[in-house]
Amino acid sequence: MPAISIDRGQRRVSIDARDPAFFRDPLAAYAEIHAQCPAFFWEERQQWYFAGYDDVNALLRDRRFGRQILHVATREELGLPSPKPHLKDFDALEEYSLLELEPPAHTRLRTLVNRAFVSRQIEQLRPDIERLSHGLIDGFADDGEVELLKTFAEVLPVTIIARMLGIPVEAAPDLLDWSHRMVRMYVFNPSYETELDANRASADFATYLRGVIAEKRRKPGDDLLTHMITSEKDGERLSEAELASTAALLLNAGHEATVHQIGNAVKTILQSRLSANELFVTEAATQLTVEECLRFAAPLHIFQRYALSDVELDGGITLRKGDKIGLLLGAANVDPKKFATPNVFQPTRDEGANVSFGAGLHFCIGAPLARLELKLSLPILFERLPNMRLKCEPDVKDAFHFHGLERLDLIW
Ligand code: HEM
Repeated sequence: MPAISIDRGQRRVSIDARDPAFFRDPLAAYAEIHAQCPAFFWEERQQWYFAGYDDVNALLRDRRFGRQILHVATREELGLPSPKPHLKDFDALEEYSLLELEPPAHTRLRTLVNRAFVSRQIEQLRPDIERLSHGLIDGFADDGEVELLKTFAEVLPVTIIARMLGIPVEAAPDLLDWSHRMVRMYVFNPSYETELDANRASADFATYLRGVIAEKRRKPGDDLLTHMITSEKDGERLSEAELASTAALLLNAGHEATVHQIGNAVKTILQSRLSANELFVTEAATQLTVEECLRFAAPLHIFQRYALSDVELDGGITLRKGDKIGLLLGAANVDPKKFATPNVFQPTRDEGANVSFGAGLHFCIGAPLARLELKLSLPILFERLPNMRLKCEPDVKDAFHFHGLERLDLIW
């Protein structure tokens, strides 16, 4: 159990997010938080956090909060520091990221890419995902052991999202490298070196994407990037910067979380000692198993929102315009008010949706794709390698936001 101190009366919690006991097993700390004060001021972070399912679900949908604040206030007004010059390229690539926009800019971009990600479209990828899963397993099935993240969990999602966008699959190693270096920015207090490196990765990524976009303009294909280049919304096309931002977000978001979800799911199922044959016996059982993996072993534990105006929340929590709040998706998924015996992996449960894909305006656009990748790849993996087991207890990454494994060594 991590060192956690809770002042219930003042609703203050002190916990070090870099404490291995915490990031290895945040569910234990969440149980304490749920029992004592699910809405709390996190001392180390100096802001309010919410762990309760109903709070997280409602605040994600609450239009008094947004992912962005600079559309309703200036930096000066809010006392925010100026952008850091050494993050120029990183900021430029984030500028038109759907995740960082609010309506109407968000609506315009989201509408344009949404069609490609609706379930009907995504279903067409089924044979591709199945073939790729089998092909990757063929590569190591006879070895008796494998490190699953590098050989499988990482390759599958990046290949699929690159194909969807019409990006050459040979670029996958670069895409993974740029993406890993950029997402390190989302840990608490990234170091100067992390920032510099993320900026360099963003510059290289943007140069690469601009090259692909120019190529698509010359030679349009039957892919999402071409669709984004040629589509018009209200007589307007996407600018070069909007195209690069959107492509970068889709590529990064299209694999970072899914990699960890595949890893977390395999570990969870193996440690549960439940029979994979039963977990995946029918499509309906597989669906329940995937949802329980998403609930119990979510890869993304926290997202933030800005108060867009002064807000008074229930329970006397007062926020000023520009204040940030933290929404603990990973904790909401184990709220005992919503899920009975929440810290037990129990794929037969039917207590409603988890919040692993968020909710409201920014609800994960890739949820149907991620779900299909999980629904197909997990049963194939367990069917092809029925005797696989953990070689050792896998190490969890030192990054509270991205709950995932360093590596996942399996033997059979
Ligand atoms: C298990 C895998 C995944 C998880 C757990 C996940 C989770 C999330 C969450 C929680 C959000 C909302 C963030 C917020 O409200 O601030 C989000 C947004 C988003 N996700 Fe995913 N995601 C996954 C896979 C994917 C995939 C495969 C794609 C592929 C395109 C994707 C693309 C996006 C995009 C573009 C957004 C921003 C949507 C918006 O702001 O309107 N995600 N994701």
